[in-house]
Amino acid sequence: MKIGINGFGRIGKSLFLQLLFDSTYDFELTAINAIHLSIDQIENYLKYDSTHHYNKDFQISICEENKSYFIISYKNKSHKIKLWSTKDTNIIDWSVDILFEASGAFLTTVDCLKHKNVKKVIITAPTKDDTNTFVYGVNHENYNNEHIISCASCTTTCISPFLKFMDSNYTINNASFTTIHASTSSQYVLDTPILSKKSGRSVRSIFNNLIPATTGASSAIKAILPKLEGKIHGLAIRVPTNNVSLVDLTIECIDEYSINEICNKIDVMNSIIMKVEKNELVSSDFQTSSYCTIIDKPSMIQLSKNKCKVLIWYDNEWSYSTQCINMSKYIYEKEFKIYENKQYHFINDYVSFKDKNVLMRVDYNVPLNKDDSISDDFRITSTLESINRVLKDKPNRIILSTHFGRPKLNKSNEENKKYSTQFLVSYLEEILKKKVHFLPSGLSFQTYHDIKMVEKQNYLYSLYELDEDFSPRLLTNTCDPSIFLLENLRFHNDETHFENPNFNKETSEAYIVWNNLGNVFVNCAFGCSHRNHLSMYGFKPSSGPIYYDYLMEREIKALEEITVNCEDKRILTILGGAKIDDKLPLCNALLSKINHIYLGGGIINSYIYNEDHKAFIETLELNKKTFLMNDGYGNSSLQENNGKYLQGYTYLSNHYYYDIGTNSLNQLYELIDKNDIIFWNGTMGVVEHELYKAGSEKLLDYLLNSGKRIIIGGGDTASFVNNYIKKRENMNLKNVHICTGGGASIEYIIKGKLGFY
Ligand code: 3PG
Ligand code: MG
Repeated sequence: MKIGINGFGRIGKSLFLQLLFDSTYDFELTAINAIHLSIDQIENYLKYDSTHHYNKDFQISICEENKSYFIISYKNKSHKIKLWSTKDTNIIDWSVDILFEASGAFLTTVDCLKHKNVKKVIITAPTKDDTNTFVYGVNHENYNNEHIISCASCTTTCISPFLKFMDSNYTINNASFTTIHASTSSQYVLDTPILSKKSGRSVRSIFNNLIPATTGASSAIKAILPKLEGKIHGLAIRVPTNNVSLVDLTIECIDEYSINEICNKIDVMNSIIMKVEKNELVSSDFQTSSYCTIIDKPSMIQLSKNKCKVLIWYDNEWSYSTQCINMSKYIYEKEFKIYENKQYHFINDYVSFKDKNVLMRVDYNVPLNKDDSISDDFRITSTLESINRVLKDKPNRIILSTHFGRPKLNKSNEENKKYSTQFLVSYLEEILKKKVHFLPSGLSFQTYHDIKMVEKQNYLYSLYELDEDFSPRLLTNTCDPSIFLLENLRFHNDETHFENPNFNKETSEAYIVWNNLGNVFVNCAFGCSHRNHLSMYGFKPSSGPIYYDYLMEREIKALEEITVNCEDKRILTILGGAKIDDKLPLCNALLSKINHIYLGGGIINSYIYNEDHKAFIETLELNKKTFLMNDGYGNSSLQENNGKYLQGYTYLSNHYYYDIGTNSLNQLYELIDKNDIIFWNGTMGVVEHELYKAGSEKLLDYLLNSGKRIIIGGGDTASFVNNYIKKRENMNLKNVHICTGGGASIEYIIKGKLGFY
């Protein structure tokens, strides 16, 4: 993980040293900006410190070839670091994964956006706007891939773990605190008249005084522990010591507690951030500690059965920096690590499509109504964000390409007509509000020519405009990017024969054309990611960079919630639908990771009437982890115009379940209540049929109102959910992710990786 640090004062230096000594993560320190520090001072600055005691076993050398770089080595590891000394951070190309913003000068998201080429910015201070704020160990799990975050203040970092602990155990009524705070560089050695300082006494000499001050901690708490808003109030007193501060906190709860009970509970937690100190120590004993919340047991006073006074120590430099680093590790685990060894990249803010020929593979294999109109356009609308992102950069051209259905190639042209993608053109023009040119020849050389013709015309049109007197006037601005849609990719044998070992890349016209249609490839076709087809995996890296789009990213991240990042979450999988064969392996893949599986809908018919399926289902720890739908409505065929109530799995005399029943739904609701994440693939009945959609609709209602994280996998289930949502207003979809690919999401879960790279 590449790290940069902007600002190299007390926090910047503490961060730097701890990152250098950290052997658990592969940090690579690459850039520092330290105004007023020259490269020949760097060694002294790092080796000596009036405050902290740390290992000095590192070597520093200044690069001969370029004097703005130095190399620092510790144990077996070296970092080559560029030292900037500039106030004009615009000139810095950071090129880092994480930038610690420790200068104190960039305290808003808008300011931090000015940092160039950084994936994430962690502001090591409270901000002046509403940038999302996280304290490691308190609310870090709410981190949701934000680009810029703040790690609050040292005092907030000290006090909030204890407040969270007290509130979750005893429910806080109110608390007030004073932090007896070491001096910081913002203070003055002697009385100094500075107009801009708000408080008159903050400019007084820290040498001789105890200086009352405000602390942002009470207002910051509400961002971190919103439940406590209005209940916590605090002040600060700046004192003439160089480091280590002490919170004096009085806390009143609703429930009763004793001091010993609190201390024992904290001991048992064995936390890396909070601990109890039983010895009678003084501030300098806590110098260079990594714990940010150290309860001073000897001084605790029980004021009443639910009220106590407690002193809490914290190293406001070192331990605060430790928590900022812990936050960066969390971000790494959550965002970077998973994608590390893959050959593809996601589109991020730094990718530019300007002047590029962008080839986009989408999956517009949409379901149609009987009259051939689109019945669910979710797969199309899901790609709009990426298309607009590309368009924003002003590319030269975009070619959209998709398969549609499964045309049989030996059939006559006439019969395959219904598989043409041309019907999508008007639809796309409508939603993009732009002209879309159709390329009827698809993956053949003729397409080059067709593109050229369109672009030539576009070019001519854009250069001239007719004046009022009809004389042509030259325009200087360049033309809009042309947008194309390619004919159905599956009209070419090579598309689906790509995985064949005899596939010859040298002679395949489709392959050659595909690799020459663009100089950037963006894959948005999550729904087809389980097909090893030419258009999915046949774009050579030498033809141009390959990106996965926002849709892919959303899908992968959602599915990772149930496959990778799920240790502390309880997961229920609901499987239904008619096709059971592709779901059985899914059960196997999920069984070790999830808490419950519920099988319903058409699967139950398989359980009753198919010996193999029955045998398989019975291996699934029935009634411990796996539950079967046990009542519902059905008949001997869908043609019958009534649904009979059915129960159990035997003596159904050739009747089939077509919908789920009340008992089963109630059992399912109980399971939903017990879990945190619900993955649902396959409806609970024949939802296309008026008689049999009620059960699935009830289930969906229950899920949407449950407040749980809901992941809908499955093409039919997704269409059912989308159509249901469309008919209703004000549905709360905040916690819902709907996958655009049924087969794809199942295969992803089973394989644990995307595609065939
Ligand atoms: C789908 O609809 O599942 C995808 O578009 C893939 O289509 P396919 O199943 O025909 O390969
Ligand atoms: Mg399918």
